[in-house]
Amino acid sequence: MRTLILYSSHDGQTRKIAEFIAERLELSNGAGNCEVVDLAAAERCDLPRYDRVLIGASIRYGHFAAELPVFVKRHLRWLDAVPSAFFAVNLTARKAGKRTPQTNAYTRKFLASSPWRPDRCGVFAGALHYPRYGWLDRVMIQLIMRMTGGETDATKDVEYTDWQQVNDFASDFALLTAKTAGI
Ligand SMILES: Cc1cc2nc3c(=O)[nH]c(=O)nc-3n(C[C@H](O)[C@H](O)[C@H](O)COP(=O)(O)O)c2cc1C
Repeated sequence: MRTLILYSSHDGQTRKIAEFIAERLELSNGAGNCEVVDLAAAERCDLPRYDRVLIGASIRYGHFAAELPVFVKRHLRWLDAVPSAFFAVNLTARKAGKRTPQTNAYTRKFLASSPWRPDRCGVFAGALHYPRYGWLDRVMIQLIMRMTGGETDATKDVEYTDWQQVNDFASDFALLTAKTAGI
């Protein structure tokens, strides 16, 4: 099984999750069968070479990167033809009640408006990296965290990602070996 994992990541957390899933898949599948590629460079991939695809994307100011719907539109026939899965990464998902495709508003909206029907979908909490942010982003995130009861100490890095949840998602995705395995 040759697996393509595409990620769209601004500060690295979605890439980290994508690489973690690739490691899990290679453990269960045999090394060398998994490629992790930035969604921004996906046009350079020879898509028919892959047997299945996973796309992960983070939220920034309420939106996934513009590359996501563009890729989906351009490659919908291929996405429909192979087993596929999607995961979203955001800070809203740090709350357990907002960590499913149905309860995470960004993911629900994306799936409702997208013609792509991934066979599996996950929602993971991301990370806060105050020291890496520019002034405006830091102030904005602090404001949002104050309003929603999150971390406001701007000296801190906090990773909210539940790695057991990511591991379970990877195990489920590993079972997705034929299009008929869809939900
Ligand atoms: C400038 C900025 C804006 C963000 N906007 C949102 C948002 O609107 N909703 C949300 O739930 N998380 C938001 N986040 C949190 C990110 O989704 C989270 O930090 C995630 O881990 C980022 O993943 P990435 O490093 O792969 O880009 C924002 C983060 C930053 C830095």
